[in-house]
Amino acid sequence: MKAIILKRTHEPPDFTEANLPEITASEVLVRLKAAALNHRDVWVQKGLYPGMKLPCILGSDGAGVIEKIGKLVSNEWFEKEVIINPGLNWGDNELVAGKSFHILGMPTNGCFAEYVKIDHQYLYEKPPHLNFFEAAALPLAGVTAFRALFTQSKLQKGEKVLITGIGGGVALQTLLFARALGCEVYVTSGSNEKIKKAVSYGATGGINYKMNNWHKVLLKEAGQFNVIIDSAGGDNFGNLIDLAAPAGRITFYGGTSGNISNIIPSKVFFKQLTIKGTTMGNPEDFQHMVDFVNQKKIKPVIDQVFPLKEAETAFTRMENGEQFGKIVLKI
Ligand SMILES: NC(=O)c1ccc[n+]([C@@H]2O[C@H](COP(=O)([O-])OP(=O)(O)OC[C@H]3O[C@@H](n4cnc5c(N)ncnc54)[C@H](OP(=O)(O)O)[C@@H]3O)[C@@H](O)[C@H]2O)c1
Repeated sequence: MKAIILKRTHEPPDFTEANLPEITASEVLVRLKAAALNHRDVWVQKGLYPGMKLPCILGSDGAGVIEKIGKLVSNEWFEKEVIINPGLNWGDNELVAGKSFHILGMPTNGCFAEYVKIDHQYLYEKPPHLNFFEAAALPLAGVTAFRALFTQSKLQKGEKVLITGIGGGVALQTLLFARALGCEVYVTSGSNEKIKKAVSYGATGGINYKMNNWHKVLLKEAGQFNVIIDSAGGDNFGNLIDLAAPAGRITFYGGTSGNISNIIPSKVFFKQLTIKGTTMGNPEDFQHMVDFVNQKKIKPVIDQVFPLKEAETAFTRMENGEQFGKIVLKI
């Protein structure tokens, strides 16, 4: 089969021939129709991801049709259109992933290939209102956004939300989920063009985080926020404390801008803020996320679709932060 294999870090991933995976009794073989990039794929390519193990077929997100099932797998899965939960071996504690948790697409061979094998416990029926590109765009960003907003931040209908770096795949999915619940959402971005696009997807407004004192301008324009979802960290994180409403929740899942050094403790405790780290989610988060997407008929936003063999161009687009929404590979 054709696959995108990363052999060494700091090199472009190779479009090459790979062996067809052999399934065990509890696994299925999925003929992939589409896969999607996550920033994780770029971190892995640069060797900046913990537990590096190469060579490996990259790609955490995929959607396709089941072509073969193991002996212990129900016949009902045969020829089903599916998406895959890429969070493997979450463990027993719903609050935090266990030591054997890992993500499809390094160290385990992933979805940038014509076929992937996966244990049947990670299969979910493709939401019928999504095409394969939209379905492939959902899993990793969807479960991260869902856990950040609902499981961790306990977002309630009518609350006001701020999402930073709206061009990101997870950030944009977070916007769609918060809007689907009926919340007012503001965004930040390094691009005015992306703020305009976010408004077309339901954001009330936004501000460019590259502007001096952006947080003061936003505070004046929009007031404080009940829930703030961030993936940047860095020097701007302290400004989020000022933007949070009393009893607000600030939840973050990434550290794109580096360490946080400017939090003033009294600002946090007087306002009784909750600052929480979050990651992808446990199997219940994933199931609830898929149910929510089906119920609200939510469609992930696709930035661009590239043929599998042009994965290198897709990686460059993500590395340069040019995208608005998910970058998808057609298989
Ligand atoms: N912990 C987890 O389980 C988990 C899960 C998913 C993702 N992540 C991490 O979260 C981050 C985002 O992931 P992704 O896949 O959504 O990435 P992505 O699609 O590549 O998005 C990255 C976005 O970060 C934004 N950004 C860059 N600098 C910023 C700054 N100074 N302030 C605010 N936003 C900034 C940019 O938004 P604009 O273009 O709008 O400026 C950019 O589009 C990555 O670091 C990823 O590894 C972690």
